[in-house]
Amino acid sequence: MRVLVTGGAGYIGAHTSRLLAARGDYVLVVDDLVTGSADRIPGIPVVTLNIANGSAEQLESLMREHRIDAVIHFAAQKQVGESVAKPAWYYEQNVGSVAQLLLAMERASVHKLVFSSSAAVYGEASGIITEEASANPINPYGATKLVAEQLISACARSWPLRAASLRYFNVGGAGVPELGDTQALNLIPICFEQIAAHKSPLIFGDDYDTADGTCVRDYVHVSDVADAHLAVLDVLPSEPGNEVLNIGTGIGTSVRDMVDAILEVTASELSAEVRERRAGDPAAVVGAVDRMRELTGWSARYSVADIVESAWASRQYFEARAASS
Ligand code: UFG
Repeated sequence: MRVLVTGGAGYIGAHTSRLLAARGDYVLVVDDLVTGSADRIPGIPVVTLNIANGSAEQLESLMREHRIDAVIHFAAQKQVGESVAKPAWYYEQNVGSVAQLLLAMERASVHKLVFSSSAAVYGEASGIITEEASANPINPYGATKLVAEQLISACARSWPLRAASLRYFNVGGAGVPELGDTQALNLIPICFEQIAAHKSPLIFGDDYDTADGTCVRDYVHVSDVADAHLAVLDVLPSEPGNEVLNIGTGIGTSVRDMVDAILEVTASELSAEVRERRAGDPAAVVGAVDRMRELTGWSARYSVADIVESAWASRQYFEARAASS
């Protein structure tokens, strides 16, 4: 298959681009290289472009020139806090890019799309969440993902678009050290930062209605997430539509258990400190993953220990690289 990957030099995008190339697919990456880096995907052509505004014509030409069969769309902004501060910019970036892409795809007759959505669309839903759960995002980031899904569904009613929107749960780890997430936005990298600064990792709230009182999340290895894109691409339905699929493990891990795993892997003698609840955190968010398994046969292979160990190895790789430069 000949696949255009937007955001293909980013964290999940680079893992996926490499897997596609390794199995013999032709890959063309379009990435603005602001948080992504072309070093992550050696040998894969990269067009440097932010597609949020006025890119449809250029994307259409690229699709024609490279005889693209399918698009995987990762390029997006992903910081919840920033989306609250800059909502219009988040809509421009995360919805605008999808609009430009769909205009180009329709004109170039590219009819297959896999879209990076997020469990953030579920908002404060708690427990084991199926795709039927109502989508009520509680921040602009989640809202932009939901609106983009709706736009894709609307296009699939208008022209023969065969799409899937993958709602990722808590993605972590690294397939190889150089592909780790270099932004400290989530629990695992934030704990690493704390430990590196000889400060205790913080647990935001231990009075939730969960087994140990701390929040429960569904952590899924980035290599599994990347693999899920290939699995979905291969089985996109023959009928137009937008298949919504949870991408997680179906297994919940508490913040306390995750912090303990982090302290062990980092051989730290620090211990966790409990702080106030963080605003807007649902108690438990775990993905029901049956639909994805039934449709594609895919299921996650990596454990929480694999996620933490590979994330730590990646952090050490980047530290060593920074120290030697
Ligand atoms: N947490 C701590 N201490 C920290 C950092 C986080 O206790 O130092 C807790 C949070 O309160 C939360 C859990 O760890 O209970 C996970 O927090 P993250 O920020 O890592 O992840 P979230 O579950 O809040 O958010 C993730 C993605 C978002 C996405 C959301 C949707 O990061 O992009 O899932 O499910 F929107």
